[in-house]
Amino acid sequence: MKSRLKQLVPLAIRQEIKRQIWRREDRKNPITAERVPPRAETFIGGGDFIYVGDEFFKVLRRHGLTPDMDVLDVGCGQGRMARPLAGFLNNGSYSGFDIVKPGIDWCNEHYADLPNFKFEHVPIYNKRYNKKGHIKASEFVFPYKDDSFDIVFLTSVFTHMFAKDIENYLSEIARVLKPGGKSLITWFILNDQSRAAQNPYYDFAFDYDEVSKTTTPRRPEAAIAFDEDYLKKLYADKNLKISSTEYGFWAKPDSEHEMQDLIIGTKPT
Ligand SMILES: C[S@@+](CC[C@H](N)C(=O)[O-])C[C@H]1O[C@@H](n2cnc3c(N)ncnc32)[C@H](O)[C@@H]1O
Repeated sequence: MKSRLKQLVPLAIRQEIKRQIWRREDRKNPITAERVPPRAETFIGGGDFIYVGDEFFKVLRRHGLTPDMDVLDVGCGQGRMARPLAGFLNNGSYSGFDIVKPGIDWCNEHYADLPNFKFEHVPIYNKRYNKKGHIKASEFVFPYKDDSFDIVFLTSVFTHMFAKDIENYLSEIARVLKPGGKSLITWFILNDQSRAAQNPYYDFAFDYDEVSKTTTPRRPEAAIAFDEDYLKKLYADKNLKISSTEYGFWAKPDSEHEMQDLIIGTKPT
């Protein structure tokens, strides 16, 4: 029924209907929590903004995040992952960048009291998130010096990008990580288990290229999954050692982890 509705009603109309519903909800039941954008202004997908951020904060802590660390949030959106770090990173710092300007403007306004939090807008093209962008993700050089961060993380970002883009981004991540630093990146990973799982919401039925598949051939950026062997080779090529892979419940219903898969890659010392 849901997918039939999707076929019949164009995306722009569906989005406008959703926005109207959220505007009404924002008026009836305004969000009062700090650093949480109004529902009608969110563009980062469904799910409870606070819950999703808090859960990922636990993941970061489990993988060694401490208050004195310098962290980079690539594709930081509207600060969903930054929010629980505010007040935690007392002696460390947070940097985030994203391609959607209103999200970065919102964060700059709502984190102005935290001088160790910096958000930057970069006009990179992405068919889903920034059609007006003129920079190619495959050529973008992160605006940070080599060996700058203890942790670099990406949540639900490489799930919207293509192979040539992520290849460049992983090089950049390896460059800006300090020796011994960790990357925590979420993915949809294609392997025997996920291919057999048949999740109707994440049905990667269409080849995008020889290493990735999409759920939506007309708008492949909507959701992209990568072949696990390709990812293993890519991490090795970029000199990031995979210390663990946590398979998410999108394709492993008994998983104790979050929805997407998570790869922890460490830069050698
Ligand atoms: C599903 S949202 C997730 C946002 C944020 N990471 C979070 O979990 O709340 C995907 C984000 O990736 C960003 N994005 C897409 N392509 C990007 C690129 N090439 N570089 C940086 N961010 C990008 C989008 O603008 C969007 O904010």
